[in-house]
Amino acid sequence: MKQRAPWQRTHTCGELTLAHRDQDVVLNGWIENHRHHGQLIFLDLRDRYGVTQVVVDQDGPGTAAGTFESVRRLGAEDVVAVHGRVRARDADKVNKNRTTGAIELFATQVTVLSEAETPPFEVLDKAEANEELRMQYRYLDLRRRPLQEALGKRARFVTAIRNFLAGRGFLDIETPILTKSTPEGARDYLVPSRVHPGRFFALPQSPQIFKQLCMVAGLDRYYQIARCFRDEDLRADRQPEFTQIDLEMSFVEEHDVLDLVEAMVVHGMREGFGIELPQPFPRFDFEQAMERYGCDKPDLRFDMTLVDCTELARTSDFKVFRAAVELGGVVKGICAKGAAEKFSRKGIDELTAFVGGLGAKGLAWAKVTAAGLEGSIAKFYEGDRGRLLCERMEAEPGDLLLFVADQKKVVNKALGDLRLKVGGQLGLRDPAVFRCCWVLNFPMFEWNDEKARWQFAHNPFSAPVDWDIGDFGVDTANIRSRAYDFVMNGWELGSGSIRIHRRELQARVFEFLGITPEQQRANFGFLLDAYKYGGPPHGGIALGVDRLVALALGREGIRDVIAFPKTSMAYDLMADAPSGVSPEQMAELQIASTAKKTP
Ligand code: AMO
Ligand code: AMP
Repeated sequence: MKQRAPWQRTHTCGELTLAHRDQDVVLNGWIENHRHHGQLIFLDLRDRYGVTQVVVDQDGPGTAAGTFESVRRLGAEDVVAVHGRVRARDADKVNKNRTTGAIELFATQVTVLSEAETPPFEVLDKAEANEELRMQYRYLDLRRRPLQEALGKRARFVTAIRNFLAGRGFLDIETPILTKSTPEGARDYLVPSRVHPGRFFALPQSPQIFKQLCMVAGLDRYYQIARCFRDEDLRADRQPEFTQIDLEMSFVEEHDVLDLVEAMVVHGMREGFGIELPQPFPRFDFEQAMERYGCDKPDLRFDMTLVDCTELARTSDFKVFRAAVELGGVVKGICAKGAAEKFSRKGIDELTAFVGGLGAKGLAWAKVTAAGLEGSIAKFYEGDRGRLLCERMEAEPGDLLLFVADQKKVVNKALGDLRLKVGGQLGLRDPAVFRCCWVLNFPMFEWNDEKARWQFAHNPFSAPVDWDIGDFGVDTANIRSRAYDFVMNGWELGSGSIRIHRRELQARVFEFLGITPEQQRANFGFLLDAYKYGGPPHGGIALGVDRLVALALGREGIRDVIAFPKTSMAYDLMADAPSGVSPEQMAELQIASTAKKTP
């Protein structure tokens, strides 16, 4: 028989139902609250699995001597063992919101396993204490059900992903944490070496180079639930350390990676969160996404796509439209279905101010009625012209039309963001609805105004669409890379690419990016060398676990799905890290700090 000390639980706090009626059981857990009613005390006992109501009766049959007195002294968050008998609750006392709501535990003995001081805040489902205090006492914050639920589902999701990938022949391979800088566009976290004074390891911004080396090594299919470290400006969807589902495959083209990842995400969302994703995920060319949605991460929970009206505008009497076209610009619009009555003049003025903040010079609008158009552009679109415009916009009476005329980049940005704003106002961005898509063929390079030079748009290892491409200097802006993004509900959740696998091309890309042969040697020499010995065509992707879980659970930011996150100042309030180190340690590392503030 299994050994069990007398105080140890026979069941969890989320387990007991009427099926256990009249059984003698032991529960272990934390006191969530206690209510005194004369000679009865009610306790709610909590563990990860649920809450069970415990009743202690001063004169109850079988109640051990002194039990009532000791229970009277208990306080919130004390840890106890309760022996007792399971009883059915009276019909009017049943709590339908709890799995254990039909029973209560009639206590015969309560043993204190550990006493708690009064906690700095009450452990409630809804966080009432300020975030700083909760971060400082994260272990208490983590006792709250929403966080327990998030970590539970996150774990289930990750397990499902591991099982899926293992089932498809992927090897779980660990890559170094103490390594060299990897170029993902952020600053590195550096670790000084004691053994090699004056030298530093960098924590990986991603396992990118190592996973590519795994392909050169012939490991064929690699994955890792990988921790990445990036010293960058933080936002709600960023942390200095975060987790990726990182994978790489040999002898593949885009569709192989996309098909596999699509199946993986569908499986993970189902197993982890009970969410069924509609398939297939639409695939857009980068250009197409920009044309239709004005951005490279379309939110597909609603339609309201950007419609190009440049041709109609060319001959318009509306000067704003015609002038924009004459200057080489475009006129595009969105049609908000049935929204005409939902936006007052004031509402439309707000939208105009909104696009103004995005660089648009104005917002032309019209409400569609059975009699024709009404609004700022109505007088230019009477009769047939109006009908043609409505036809182009697929508009019907009751719809609201919104237009911006300008250079294409401005129009796409303004209307893309406006689409999201109006979609939100119309309740079309339901957090319980999930729509995924792929965006492919991103630009290979982007121009950095500040540094006045080209830089890579994804990372320097992505292959150009035409891999025998001659001169990167010609028409650089239009060179496409074989990079793709995975997008859910307008969030970029993953990025990847088919890689360059030949040394000369990789060297040429580095060279074009202004990385000198010496720098190439110093930073990527081992990758370039590896390609000397046979690099297979390969490609892969990394998905942000934190972002995906936060989105699936409808949480505000990724901190709510990470056990021990950092603050927005990249600080661990609980462990008080980063912290100063002793002069001895600094001396041993042969480093000194020039910081003004003493650590
Ligand atoms: P990338 O830099 O686009 O690609 O990262 C991939 C995904 O990781 C998540 N992510 C983050 N999540 C939380 N906090 C952050 N600071 C953070 N930064 C990124 C995002 C993002 O989509 N090596 C390449 C992948 C590849 O090419 O295979 C890479 O790291 O969800
Ligand atoms: P105006 O002729 O400047 O009074 O503008 C008439 C209407 O056109 C107003 O509703 C403006 O907001 C709108 N408008 C002005 N410039 C633009 C533009 N570039 N694109 C779309 N609408 C514009």
